[in-house]
Amino acid sequence: MTASPIAGGADLEGFDFAVDDTTALHEILAELRAAKPYAIVPFAGKHAVLLLTHELVGAAFRDEATFPASAIYPLTTGPVLGKTLQCMSGREHRINRAIASPPFRRGEVARHVEPVLEPLAHELIDRFADHGEADLVAEFTTRYPVLVISRLLGLPVEDEDIVRRWAHDLFCYPFDPDSALAASREFTEYLTPILEHRRRNPGDDLISTLVTATAEGERLDDEQVLAFLRLLFPAGADTTMLALANTLVALLTHPDQLELVRSAPDEHVQWAIWEGLRWEPPVGLLPRICPESTTWRGIDIPASTPMIFSINAALRDPAAYPNPHRYDITRRAADMLAFGQGPHTCAGTWLALAELRTALAILLRRLPVLRIRDNATERARITSQVGTALRGPAELPVRWEVRRSST
Ligand code: HEM
Repeated sequence: MTASPIAGGADLEGFDFAVDDTTALHEILAELRAAKPYAIVPFAGKHAVLLLTHELVGAAFRDEATFPASAIYPLTTGPVLGKTLQCMSGREHRINRAIASPPFRRGEVARHVEPVLEPLAHELIDRFADHGEADLVAEFTTRYPVLVISRLLGLPVEDEDIVRRWAHDLFCYPFDPDSALAASREFTEYLTPILEHRRRNPGDDLISTLVTATAEGERLDDEQVLAFLRLLFPAGADTTMLALANTLVALLTHPDQLELVRSAPDEHVQWAIWEGLRWEPPVGLLPRICPESTTWRGIDIPASTPMIFSINAALRDPAAYPNPHRYDITRRAADMLAFGQGPHTCAGTWLALAELRTALAILLRRLPVLRIRDNATERARITSQVGTALRGPAELPVRWEVRRSST
């Protein structure tokens, strides 16, 4: 079904929110928001409603009846990830989430996951700590969250490189469908015998939980487990890697804030992470669809209109945060909006936060006098990634002091 045009025309022309990137994104969002809490903008050759304030974006996430996740995800990820949590609604969503999410609860993460995070972070840093310089995106941020998920699933250590390739390819479906579909097939073939084995011989890993747990008297079938596992990498790894890189960029471009964190890491690391998630949330411009014609908060929205939940504009809304463009860890603002809201709110929030805190603390401890390499600030710029929904730097070339211990 094609959407009929939104009345009144666009508030902005010449910039397509589905494909275009600009260094001035935050300025454009701020200018649009200063005029109105929402804007009509070009999106993939159509017009979309871009929601810009903290209040509107939160309300839209919570209003699953008007903007159901199940109206968009079957189109954007369904062919490659299958029927994931994001494609489900009602009882089916409730049961699948009740089975899949308990291992990611705060207490479970603290008990079972946090102890593996620190050794993993050290293991990766050991590979390059002596070099004095590295691209932290290539060497650390893209590797660490994939490793964490692989370990939680109990996948063999020697398969980590191939799992990392699948994780990357699965995510690129809209841009490279052939590689994504191939990755999906290979991943399924790889996991199917593991599922069978763990069902017969359950251990204390996540796959064993997924194949044996029940909710409301129901168990997940193989395809439901596989869909969840396929979703885990794009939802859990790509977001976390960008979040970590964005916080590092924030600290490295705000030396006073970096000093503050270094002065008392136990106190400040968590706030540096929260402020990083506010300043540049990795899921910045989340697309949805409004399937039925409606008037929502005074906005006339024809059926099938694309919507964009601008999490990044909401988190820099001056009505919610004074001086919103400044990265300031002393705000101590633990804003959950970066993880969405409502029934599809992020199932991995506590895992993500634990991963981010551990990684940042250890990176700062192991890489003293960390700074962006000379003349590399432009390369470390935060840009759109995999389309425009996600944001982070493609590279993070840094230097640090190598301190040889005297023996
Ligand atoms: C900083 C890191 C992360 C950010 C910013 C983030 C953000 C989000 C957002 C905004 C949503 C809602 C999407 C929507 O409503 O359309 C979401 C959903 C989800 N996230 Fe995360 N996420 C992160 C890390 C993780 C991790 C580590 C996991 C691993 C378990 C995870 C698993 C999920 C799942 C399974 C969903 C779908 C939930 C559902 O549909 O019921 N995320 N995430």
